[in-house]
Amino acid sequence: MYRPLFIKWQDKNNTGIEIIDEQHRGIVSIINSFYFLIEKSVNDKALCISISETIKKYSHIHFLSEERLLKAAKYPDIEKHIAIHRSLTKETERIEHAAINDNDPMLLLQFMKKWWLEHINDQDMLYAPCLREYEKNADD
Ligand SMILES: [Fe+2]
Repeated sequence: MYRPLFIKWQDKNNTGIEIIDEQHRGIVSIINSFYFLIEKSVNDKALCISISETIKKYSHIHFLSEERLLKAAKYPDIEKHIAIHRSLTKETERIEHAAINDNDPMLLLQFMKKWWLEHINDQDMLYAPCLREYEKNADD
């Protein structure tokens, strides 16, 4: 049974910060794994809950890691970035309820795909130079 990847990781998605890229790929991997399980016509409430819980838990770990690094590197726009993370957590809850009510796991996966790719490619790339510089100096 062949199903193409829902999200294909590309070089342009890398921030150049090893642990961040590792975790971002982890999130993409979770989303892709759930996508593989969903057949076109299957509506599955348990799967909706499982997707949501897994991604929320892993996102929490990732956000804490990212925010800890941003703080250590004294990233000037840290508060704005943290606010974006908080808004995703809230928005996920809203979409999660809709997906569970409608037994529609794809609603959640489509939202996750769009949100994460935009966040990584737009917002996370803004702090990347600052963190790369911080890591370079920490190595010296
Ligand atoms: Fe972020």
